[in-house]
Amino acid sequence: MFDVKRPDWWALEEAQGRSPGAFPRTRLRRNRHDAWTRRLVAEHRLSADDLIWPVFVIEGTNTRVPVASMPGVDRLTTDLLADVVGKAKDLGIPAIAVFPYVEDRLKTADCREALNPENVVCQAVRAIKKAHPDIGVVCDVALDPFNADGHDGIVRNGYVANDETLEMLGRQAIVQAEAGADIAAPSDMMDGRVGAIRDALDASGFIHCRIMSYAAKYASAFYGPFRDAVGSGKALKGDKKTYQMDPANSDEALREVGLDIAEGADMVMVKPGLAYLDVLRRVKDAFAIPTFAYNTSGEYAMLKAAGAQGWLDYDRVMMECLLAFKRAGADGILTYAAVEAATLLKRG
Ligand code: PBG
Repeated sequence: MFDVKRPDWWALEEAQGRSPGAFPRTRLRRNRHDAWTRRLVAEHRLSADDLIWPVFVIEGTNTRVPVASMPGVDRLTTDLLADVVGKAKDLGIPAIAVFPYVEDRLKTADCREALNPENVVCQAVRAIKKAHPDIGVVCDVALDPFNADGHDGIVRNGYVANDETLEMLGRQAIVQAEAGADIAAPSDMMDGRVGAIRDALDASGFIHCRIMSYAAKYASAFYGPFRDAVGSGKALKGDKKTYQMDPANSDEALREVGLDIAEGADMVMVKPGLAYLDVLRRVKDAFAIPTFAYNTSGEYAMLKAAGAQGWLDYDRVMMECLLAFKRAGADGILTYAAVEAATLLKRG
């Protein structure tokens, strides 16, 4: 039978006595003939509403420190945030994600700075919420920026200890929620962390704090520039393969997402983005839950580098990539290009 949602055009053609897709009566180029038809038949559209803008914050005042491997991205002191976040909000960007650059002296094996209500993340969240109460604030729940080892959890005998880390993550999420974070985004890939964070938030009364879980997060080389930006790369001992997923797997991504939903995730994410669009599509089809893609630092750096050389038209490839996330099933995209994209969308 004819499925209304996904028309079986082949069967339809046959039912009407034509051989499927018969040329010359069928010419798919007709709908591409003019800009207005192309607009009319476009299946997907990118809007500023789809974007989450990650920002990097540092201690101090009135300082911007460029991230060398991410041209156009600066680490900002918290006093500069109200202004840049205001611009993002005016462009229609619904939410920003806060990531800290933590000074070496504050990185310890027990990651205690992650739980400090005065840490740079909490300061940033308070500054943003004070100036712009109506923009969403996402906080990364993971220990790596605060860890002397650069790992996302507490390291014991060379191994990232799962259950001990859960306890820390719950407390970290509470500290961030107290500062005003709207969305806790665990990026650590410990087993059971979504449930632990949900329980911790609920027990502290933060029943409305949402959880966007980095559900299918791969052990990827695309995070290199981000680790420069937050200063965790130089600290990192070894790799993250004992907790982040193997890029060879995608059935396993469905198990990860399913578990996170069962533990209370409100939204899920696939990360990295461009090299994992197949995973994104499978997740969206299987679970029909708000699903996000992280257009990672490495993806941003690739396009910026080629654009700077004049090898690619940066604006066009960037917009094409963001649209590709939508086509693959993303409800939203975390991207360092959010402000650039929203500016281009506004210009039309
Ligand atoms: C930390 C974290 C990472 C990213 C987001 N949160 C890096 C990592 O897991 O090493 C990557 C972001 C990017 O590359 O843009 N847990």
